[in-house]
Amino acid sequence: MAVLRSVRDRFRKERPLAGHRIGACLHVTPETANLLRALKAAGAEIALCASNPLSTQDDIAAALALHESIPTFAVNGEDRERRAAHLDAVLSVRPTLTLDDGADLVSMLHGRRTDLLPAVVGGTEETTTGVIKLRAMAARGQLKYSIVAVNDAVTKQLFDSRHGSGQSTMDGIVRATNILLAGTSVVIAGYGWVGRGIAARARGLGAQVTVCEIDPVAALEATMDGFRVLPMRDACREGRVFVTATGSRHVIGAAHFGKMSDNVVVANAGHYDVEIDVPALAKLARRRTTVRDLVEEFTLADGRRINLLASGRLVNLAAGEGHPASVMDMTFANQALSVEFLARDGRRLEPSVMAVPREIDLQVARLKLGSLGVRIDTLTADQKRYLASWSEGS
Ligand code: NAI
Repeated sequence: MAVLRSVRDRFRKERPLAGHRIGACLHVTPETANLLRALKAAGAEIALCASNPLSTQDDIAAALALHESIPTFAVNGEDRERRAAHLDAVLSVRPTLTLDDGADLVSMLHGRRTDLLPAVVGGTEETTTGVIKLRAMAARGQLKYSIVAVNDAVTKQLFDSRHGSGQSTMDGIVRATNILLAGTSVVIAGYGWVGRGIAARARGLGAQVTVCEIDPVAALEATMDGFRVLPMRDACREGRVFVTATGSRHVIGAAHFGKMSDNVVVANAGHYDVEIDVPALAKLARRRTTVRDLVEEFTLADGRRINLLASGRLVNLAAGEGHPASVMDMTFANQALSVEFLARDGRRLEPSVMAVPREIDLQVARLKLGSLGVRIDTLTADQKRYLASWSEGS
């Protein structure tokens, strides 16, 4: 994580977060550990809990606590009650800054722990689903401090959301099932950044890809990218592997399960485990069997089998290793630089969900290119003049 390392080296010298306390609710992975090391080098006191109970790598949680002295409240597979206790434990540091992946800390701070709000100067949000929630809070005038939507950084969406999720989702599905994708019909719900990445990788593996969308522009884009576009009510009859990546709920539900072929695979890459209506599937099933690690086979009344991966949770993190470090490098450099920005300017900002400052995006891209040894052109003085004038034509 060369970009994050260069940020950390500067932070170690400048200590821009000295005196700050950070509450973080993120996937407990090696990449997150590197982000926290950078923030600690900047002088912050940090506590961490997990944004998803199945993505926690217990060895990383232990290493953070033991070797980095970062209190880490996370155990793989923790239940809702324990997870709530872990969120509480993180808030007990009385954070001045929050780092969320799904807006759980923000929700608690604006719900049960409003007593802690006055100390908070700002926060960051890592994922689309969290940003949607926060925008809803801001629209109702309920958001009490500024949040930088790291999710929306160009150097996140184009690379982490698209390439990271695309590769790791297909990897998770293959690890869980060992299915051959060449020639297989794969249906992807959602053609946002995540869906686009999954569709591209599925096609690269030889799958016949169908996209389901509700947005006409995204559907048109998928069509012109060469994918078949169908409503789920039709696609469900044809698919062999289904992947949801919409940020919405019950995108695959009872009406669809009823029409699927025998022995299909259903997985989710969206943030929450609500995209596949698992309770409806359980109701339809006369038997549930775990046939492999993270593969649960639901046998319907007529004998058809539906294989649900990772209980409908993020398949790329539960069955795979999540995004590769080289792509998280950019996302987490955005996180670190946005936290530095908020520590400096947060108090002066009106509460809102704001974009990552353009200069941070550009800085991350420059550092990444440098780490890859890629050089680019720069505008000449003449070109700058030409682009700045309106009187020069052909
Ligand atoms: P996005 O907003 O760019 O795309 C979502 C797409 O789904 C949109 O084009 C929308 O029109 C479509 N959609 C919404 N409801 C639908 C429905 N019922 N049927 C079909 N299409 C529907 O969001 P993005 O960034 O692609 O993220 C999608 C989800 O993945 C979010 O929950 C996000 O938090 C999560 N995410 C997961 C990652 C992972 O590691 N698996 C990484 C990044 C984001």
